[in-house]
Amino acid sequence: MSDIVDIRERLAAVRQDHLLRFYDELSPDGRRNLLAQIESLDLRAVPDLIERYVRHRPREHVPDDLSPAPCYPRSGRGWDRSGAREAGESLLRAGRVAAFTVAGGQGTRLGFDGPKGVYIGSAVSGKPLFQCLADWIIAAQRRYGSRIPWYIMTSPLNHAATVGFFEAHNYCGLDQRDVMCFQQGVMPTFEMGTGRILLAAKGEVATNPDGHGGSLRALNASGALEDMRSRGVEHISYTQIDNPLVRVIDPVFLGLHAAAADSSGEMSSKMVPKAHAGEKVGVFCRGEGKTRVIEYSDMPEELSRETGPDGSLRFNAGSIAVHVIGRRFIERLNSAEMVVSHTASNAPEGSPGRFALPYHRAEKKTPHVDIGSGMLVEPTAANAVKLETFVFDAIPLAERSIVLETDRCEEFAPIKNAEGADSPRTCREIQTERAARWLEVAGVKVPRRPDGSPDCTLEISPLTAMDPEDLFTCGKLPARVSAGDAIAL
Ligand code: UD1
Repeated sequence: MSDIVDIRERLAAVRQDHLLRFYDELSPDGRRNLLAQIESLDLRAVPDLIERYVRHRPREHVPDDLSPAPCYPRSGRGWDRSGAREAGESLLRAGRVAAFTVAGGQGTRLGFDGPKGVYIGSAVSGKPLFQCLADWIIAAQRRYGSRIPWYIMTSPLNHAATVGFFEAHNYCGLDQRDVMCFQQGVMPTFEMGTGRILLAAKGEVATNPDGHGGSLRALNASGALEDMRSRGVEHISYTQIDNPLVRVIDPVFLGLHAAAADSSGEMSSKMVPKAHAGEKVGVFCRGEGKTRVIEYSDMPEELSRETGPDGSLRFNAGSIAVHVIGRRFIERLNSAEMVVSHTASNAPEGSPGRFALPYHRAEKKTPHVDIGSGMLVEPTAANAVKLETFVFDAIPLAERSIVLETDRCEEFAPIKNAEGADSPRTCREIQTERAARWLEVAGVKVPRRPDGSPDCTLEISPLTAMDPEDLFTCGKLPARVSAGDAIAL
């Protein structure tokens, strides 16, 4: 480790030497920890970040020639669904697929203080979100007779609690050797007016997780990519932790990603038609010759509202944050070649593996230690700038990227807010509706209210059925469902 004089000089060179203001008051351990934390920061990048993102509110880059991205329609018209399925199934049988879940975020909007994966996800049986996703992996392993390793990205905020959960819950029924939790990186948190990095405590720099875009670097830095290579994994099925209905493993999507002529097998995505113009989902577009996602907050409002001749939204392809990513693509991003080849790099020149995902700025209330008084300040308004990268900003770095349409009710029921849209209630309703449709396909009558919604609560585990037709052979079909029933299959 460099000595204090050296670190003080390097901090002074980027006008951040206030971080050592309370150094002399710290215990030997406290001093060591603070210096180690400062050394882990990329100080050379700090002045440029402050200039570009903290002192100014940069306008997000939205190409001028934006048009809706082409999508593979859900109907299957114009493409070979069964061919895609076969291609995906053979990858699965050969053990070429890993599952990957980003779970480093804080459940702030949900008001839940812990890893979101521990929050109840299933409609009836009360399974945590981690278990809901694990059940898919277990079901897929059984169906394809292969091992599907599961990589889970945590952040320093929830890593220990996540690992503790898996240890206490027998790795959700998976082989411990196939579950790997690793931490994403952090960014320093900046004071809004001054660009000074905040101190969370006298001996601790304030930091925030670097966004799910950080996963592309963390997969490499953690050794997860190396582990995948040694297992022969070629494609990574990427999901978020907030959606218990997600098809963690989807052979059709995997096959399309790997084999479609217009896919480079690097990064593919799923979309659902937007529920309404203002829905808070990113939108798949084409711009500057590339497929890309424009986040809801950056999409020009007039474009969000634009309709086609039939009255439907023109920019209709809502991102459900489900991707398949080629392992080699992530390796390429992390290679030195990527640094020089991508001009809009955030990284100081010559820092290998610092490929260019743009930062997004968020203004937050962040408690911190006042440099003058040494007192802890609990701000009442946003006082800090957090910088994050988004994984979907890697899509334009792929040579050719495809988008597959899917049915919202089949695979998108995120839990984000305590109430209202994307809440535990809407999630239960969507799970129930999907289960009701599947049961009706299997010939079971489901009671419905006058508005058509099921008059019951239902849940079908992937261990019982991954597709509606599995219900015929599951041996668990109820003879009937009555109004008010709560049934977990
Ligand atoms: C996200 C997408 C949005 C998409 C929607 C679908 C972003 C910025 N937007 O919105 O385009 O339509 O989901 O549900 O992602 N995470 C980390 N580390 C971080 C930050 C987040 O692992 O540093 C994880 C979270 O644990 C979560 C996921 O990323 O699993 C999504 O993060 P969140 O901030 O909740 O995104 P949304 O605004 O819900």
